[in-house]
Amino acid sequence: MMRILFVCLGNICRSPTAQGVFEHLVAQAGLSEQIDVDSAGTSACHVGEPPDRRAIEAASRRGYRLSHIRSRHVEAADFECFDLILAMDKANLQALLSCCPVSFQDKVRLFLDYEGSVQDEVPDPYYGGKGGFEAVLDLIEDASLALLSSLKPTLEGAA
Ligand code: 4NP
Repeated sequence: MMRILFVCLGNICRSPTAQGVFEHLVAQAGLSEQIDVDSAGTSACHVGEPPDRRAIEAASRRGYRLSHIRSRHVEAADFECFDLILAMDKANLQALLSCCPVSFQDKVRLFLDYEGSVQDEVPDPYYGGKGGFEAVLDLIEDASLALLSSLKPTLEGAA
């Protein structure tokens, strides 16, 4: 089992969206038994809450379900338990690295590194309009496809 954790600040907008999109792709590829997907926040401000209503609605319009997700705080055990810990932006990457044991730091990366696009961060849509959530989905869909392709050789090697 390969375990992937998506991380943003509040775990109510970007990282639950990434979780929902990636879970959808993993299921479509028939890999749900091989890849476990979760998300968490570097802030504990929204712990226990469902994703932001705007994130749920934008994702739902593209066929992704986020309603099962509840915000949780990143915890020390995550660095050991997950194989990849993917931050939505540089501030959250730094927040993760600042509390990650040195031996696990190579698990922690920027999610958009997989896409190789001009943009390297998924911008925070929380204080903006609806367009921000569409832009987040566009970036997350592209990076999720790239991430899944990058994992396939490892999964095939393990099978
Ligand atoms: P997220 O968005 O990190 O993508 O979940 C945010 C959610 C809440 C806040 C900021 C960003 N906040 O300041 O409460």
